[in-house]
Amino acid sequence: MRLLLLNSGPVATLANGDINSPLTGIEMSNAEALVLEGCNGILIEDEIISKIASSEELANEFGTEDNAALRVIDCQSKAIIPGFVDSHTHLLWGGDRANEMQLRHDGLTYSDIAKSGGGIQKTVKYTRNISKDRLSKLGMKRISRAFEFGTTTMECKSGYGLSVDSELKLLQVNQLLSELTPMGLHSTWLGAHDVPKGMTMEDYVDELIHIQLPAIVDQGFASYADVFCEPGWFSLEDTELIVKAASELGLPSRLHVDEFVDGGGLALASELRAISGDHVGHSSSSARESASKSGVMQTFLPGTPYILGHDLTSPLKQCIDNNWAFSLASDFNPNCRTVSIPFVGSLATHRLGLSPIEALVAVTRNPATTLLNSSDGQVCGSIREGGPADLLILDSEYIDAWCQMPGDNPIYKTMKSGKFVN
Ligand code: NIG
Ligand code: FE
Repeated sequence: MRLLLLNSGPVATLANGDINSPLTGIEMSNAEALVLEGCNGILIEDEIISKIASSEELANEFGTEDNAALRVIDCQSKAIIPGFVDSHTHLLWGGDRANEMQLRHDGLTYSDIAKSGGGIQKTVKYTRNISKDRLSKLGMKRISRAFEFGTTTMECKSGYGLSVDSELKLLQVNQLLSELTPMGLHSTWLGAHDVPKGMTMEDYVDELIHIQLPAIVDQGFASYADVFCEPGWFSLEDTELIVKAASELGLPSRLHVDEFVDGGGLALASELRAISGDHVGHSSSSARESASKSGVMQTFLPGTPYILGHDLTSPLKQCIDNNWAFSLASDFNPNCRTVSIPFVGSLATHRLGLSPIEALVAVTRNPATTLLNSSDGQVCGSIREGGPADLLILDSEYIDAWCQMPGDNPIYKTMKSGKFVN
């Protein structure tokens, strides 16, 4: 089946240079190289973009009327951008923690709430007792919401099980969802999210390395390993042990680091050649420089400090000025309940000084380079001939609109693998 998109507005292709590498510095700002102004037509054949040209040329070649083998869509000058790649989510969990905002207003920190029985442990209690069927229904609902907001590829972590069986259950449901829905899902094992009740840190790290990890590798659904490396949770030493054990069994890592303080997590991620260091709100400039030199993606999750009531201080402009590769993602979790990448884009542009095109690169092309082993082997995050047909038609003639409707939705149509999914 052929699908012909005609009469679009500008198309943000983001496809210049080597698409296996992230863009950095002024490459992220250079709208002239990133946006096609003259070509306002796209031909899609099955799951692939087969031609990008002027609408006139495509209309001459293929016609403008629907027929048995062709569907024609008039884009009415609406802008087109690549589907969003949300490279950090905690998709599956049960329960509800909406009570925690009032606790924060009463003066409790994230750590205080965790110690008083809320936080991750509370979600673990609910998630362990939830059936696979219920979890997959929750996952489907969240994925369809993410499609509405333009996400076409999503990393999803376990981490609310904290036992072999329940971590395997979460990864199994991730796998099921990747078969039941068209979302491009990439699974990460986050057994090292917290220490389960009744265990010591030492015993749990031992269980993670010697029992959970081999079982997860044997199951074969997780592509990455993650550790919540932060003072009060997993130490640098334990993180290193877990990351090295995972790496020996073939799982590269993407790590939670320096979320609340500079605990040296990003520096360690660089030393260990992790794929990505995530949160990184408090990392030092020297750690950022090392990350850049070691090819470690810095992934900022500004929705989380926003929701926790912290100052928004992520040094995104500094990343541009220093040519440090970075991405932005949602961190969807029970504490940060939004799958909206346009909302993250609003924080990055309205509050953190990025231009809309810079922020767009950070939610598409750049995170895509950290998720290369997708099932279809295609690099997503850009619009190019021969690339996957994952794209968004915006409800505006301007590309810049993608991040300028906080609380509303700038996405008119989401296409995943050549099919509309919203
Ligand atoms: O990335 N910080 C660690 N993990 C999650 C939050 C977990 C939770 O509060 O449930 C995060 O923000
Ligand atoms: Fe997270």
